[in-house]
Amino acid sequence: MTSEKIQRVGVIGAGQMGAGIAEVCARAHVDVLVYEQTRELAAAGRARIMRSLDRGVSSGKITEREREQAAWRLRFTSDLGDFADRQLVVEAVVEDEKVKSAIFAELDQIVTDPDAVLASNTSSIPIMKLGITTSRPERVIGLHFFNPVPVLPLVELVTTLKTSAAVTERAEQFAGEVLGKQVVRSADRSGFVVNALLVPYLLSAIRMVESGFATKEDIDKATVLGLAHPMGPLALTDLVGLDTVKSIADSMYEEFKEPLYSAPPLLLRMVEAGLVGKKVGRGFYEYADNGRVAKK
Ligand code: NAI
Repeated sequence: MTSEKIQRVGVIGAGQMGAGIAEVCARAHVDVLVYEQTRELAAAGRARIMRSLDRGVSSGKITEREREQAAWRLRFTSDLGDFADRQLVVEAVVEDEKVKSAIFAELDQIVTDPDAVLASNTSSIPIMKLGITTSRPERVIGLHFFNPVPVLPLVELVTTLKTSAAVTERAEQFAGEVLGKQVVRSADRSGFVVNALLVPYLLSAIRMVESGFATKEDIDKATVLGLAHPMGPLALTDLVGLDTVKSIADSMYEEFKEPLYSAPPLLLRMVEAGLVGKKVGRGFYEYADNGRVAKK
C-alpha cells in the first residue's frame, strides 16, 4: 500500500533551523504548523521567517505573490496537541537529548496517522535514542537540514536499525522531490557524515585561538583564501551557534570517546557567558541587526 502524499507538516521549534525548515516547506506548497513553547517565541519565529521571505523577494529568488502564499500556509501553535493530523513532523528544538526524547514520547501519544513520519533535525544525537521513546520506532528517522535551510541544498537522511523501508522512502521522496533538496544517507552514528567531519575542525580552530597559535581573523582568512572555504571556522561556529557546537561535540565525544571531539575550555566559557554566536549578536565576532559582522 502506498502512503498518501505528504501535505500536512508539523515543525517543532522556530529557532534558526525550525524557522528555515518551516519556510522551505511553506514555499513547497505544503501546509505547515509550527510549534513554539510560548506565544512570544512563536511571534519571534514568524518574524524570523518573514524576514527571510523578504530577503528572498529582494534578492529575486521568490516573487511577492510567492511570499504571500508561503505566509498563508504557515500557522503557529504553542499546543503540541494540535499536531494530531500531521503526516510528517520535523523536530528542531535545542540539541538536548532529554528535551528531544520528551518531545518524541509526547508526539507518539498525539499523532494519530499510523503512516506519519516522525523526523528529527538533530545534528548529532543517534536517532535510535529518540525512536525508542516512542511505540513506533520504525516510523522515526533523521532528516538533517543545513543552515541556512532555504540556501543550502543538502539533507542527510539517517535511518536506524528499526526505521522501515517505507518510511525511508517517504522521507527521501519528500526531501528530494517536494523540497528539492539533495539527499545523502548516513548510518545512525553521532554527527552523521557532515558534522563528524566538520566538528573536530571547528574545535581545532577554537583550540588554535585559545593557545594563541593565530588570531581568529587570521584563522578565518587562512581557510577562506587558502582552502577556498566560503567562511572560516570561527565565523562558521558563530553561524551554527556555540551552544549547538558544544552539544554536538558532547554527543560525539560520548559516542566515540575521541579526544579531538571534546569541547575546549574556551568554548565552554563562551557558552556559559551566553556568547553563543550570530543568533544572539555575539560569539567570536559581534553582529549588527542585519546579521553582518559589526565589530571584530
Ligand atoms: P536555536 O537555538 O536557534 O533554536 C532552538 C529551539 O529550541 C527554539 O525553537 C527554542 O524555543 C527551542 N527550545 C529550547 N528549549 C526547549 C525546550 N525545553 N522545549 C521545547 N523547545 C525548546 O537552535 P537551532 O540552531 O535552530 O538548532 C535546533 C536543532 O537543529 C538542534 O538539534 C541542532 O543540532 C540542529 N541543527 C542546527 C544547525 C545549525 O547550524 N545551527 C544545523 C543543522 C541542525
